[in-house]
This record gives sequence, C-alpha cells and structure tokens, in this order.
Amino acid sequence: MNTPAPRRFLGAPAMRALLAQAGAFPLTLLSVWLLARLGAAPSWDGVALIQGAWAALLAWRLGLAIWWRAIELVFPPCVLLARGLDLPPGLFLVLFVLFLLVYWSTFRTQVPYYPSGRHAWDAVAGLLPADRPLAIADVGSGLGGLVLDLARRRPDCQVDGIELAPLPWLVSRLRAALSGSRARFLRADYETVNFSHYDVVFAYLSPAAMAGLWRKAEKEMRPGSILLSYEFDIPGRMPDRRVVTTNSKKILFLWQF
Ligand SMILES: C[S@@+](CC[C@H](N)C(=O)[O-])C[C@H]1O[C@@H](n2cnc3c(N)ncnc32)[C@H](O)[C@@H]1O
Repeated sequence: MNTPAPRRFLGAPAMRALLAQAGAFPLTLLSVWLLARLGAAPSWDGVALIQGAWAALLAWRLGLAIWWRAIELVFPPCVLLARGLDLPPGLFLVLFVLFLLVYWSTFRTQVPYYPSGRHAWDAVAGLLPADRPLAIADVGSGLGGLVLDLARRRPDCQVDGIELAPLPWLVSRLRAALSGSRARFLRADYETVNFSHYDVVFAYLSPAAMAGLWRKAEKEMRPGSILLSYEFDIPGRMPDRRVVTTNSKKILFLWQF
C-alpha cells in the first residue's frame, strides 16, 4: 500500500534526524542549566557534545539507523569547529545550493547520486534483445552516462533518461546536445512516468526504493518487457537472470514480464 505523501515526507530519515536535533535543544538547555546550578557549567565544546549526545539518543528512539546516530552526535561539534575556521558565510550558501541542485529530493527518495560505470553499461547492452528496436528508460539517470552510451551503441533504439535532480538533468541535456546524441532526458519523478511506454526499464537506485519500483513495474510493464536493476535486488522477487558484472563484481538483476 502507498503511504500518503505528507507522512512519507515527515517519516523520511533526514526529517527524523532534524527532529532529533530540534528535540535535543530544550534537553541541552535543561542539562546546561542543571550543570551550572551544580557549579559545573560546561564550555561551548561541552554544550555541543551534550546537544549531540541528546540528539543521538533521540535518533535511536526515533528508529534511525546507527550511522544517523553517529551523524547526530558529531554534528553540533562540527558546526562549532566550522565556525572557528572563520570561513566566508557565502561559501556555506554556495555549497548548500550546489548540494541542493545535485541531491534535490534525496531526503525523500533515499536515492542519492552515484554513477554505475562502464562494466554495468556493458552488462546492460549485452542483455538487450538485438533483433528489434526498443524503447529504453534509465529511471534516475544521473549525469546520463548509461543513456548516452546505450544511445551510441544502439542507434535503432529510443533511449530516455528520467532524472529528478536539476543539475544532473541539466548536465545530461548538455552532454546530449554537445555530442549530437539522440538520447532524450526528461526532468521528472519516475513515479509519474508510465513504464508501459518502455520495453526495457533500467534502475540503479537504493534498497529503500526497490519495493515501490517493483509495485509500479508489476502494475505498468507490458508482457515481454524487461526490468533491470543494478546492484539492488527486489526483496521476495526471484530475478529471472543475474549477471555478475566484470571488475566490480556487482550484480545486474533481470526480471522478465
Ligand atoms: C544511483 S544514481 C544512478 C545514476 C545512473 N542511472 C547511473 O547508472 O549512473 C540514482 C539517480 O536517481 C535519481 N532519482 C532518485 N529518485 C528519483 C525519482 N523518483 N525520479 C527520478 N530520478 C530519481 C537521483 O537523483 C540519482 O541521480
């Protein structure tokens, strides 16, 4: 069953992590006040550590994974450290905007950008039926490497990249324009794209996205079409083929509809 969008938004790990830091703030104030009354007022470093410790504890109570708890613990001391470096405030704004444009909805989708690479592209190309033109989609196409490579290898096919984050999408559009590729890049959430338009759907996402991807594929993909997932399996769905890619030893999973 699909979770309603507001609940998905608030339940996203990054939102819960933010909640943990916010919730830790009054607890830190109370702790500092109590320590001061006992004559042991902490230094700023100590305050940052107390805030981090409360946030890590709340992160644990909110069911966040262990690495989130570690992030919660070190975040306030890191903020203090960064302040001490006396960096120009504009730098933080520039970095924030850059990360925003690259990672965009990652806090919700839990699928950040990381590229697949040539060994994966070779394996994908090797699995494509060679006897007919195909409509192929890379859902979450990043900087467009796979899409451009497939469009070059298979001029008989229509290859589309669907990407949500603005900067990777823009870079792929530019790469296609500069190389004269026929590949198309759409800036969209793949959840809104109908998979029935495609003979092959490729995904390199994350474990968090796989159950939803399967539900969508099962509903929309036509008989004879193929779903490929690099590295990430679908829980409880036996793939029809598993290809161990050269070099990386990562697996390309194939489901035939
Ligand atoms: C792991 S990268 C894979 C990039 C590329 N497919 C490759 O093989 O190199 C996943 C990409 O999916 C994008 N993404 C995540 N959720 C998405 C969604 N719902 N719709 C479209 N793109 C999404 C991310 O922004 C990221 O660029």
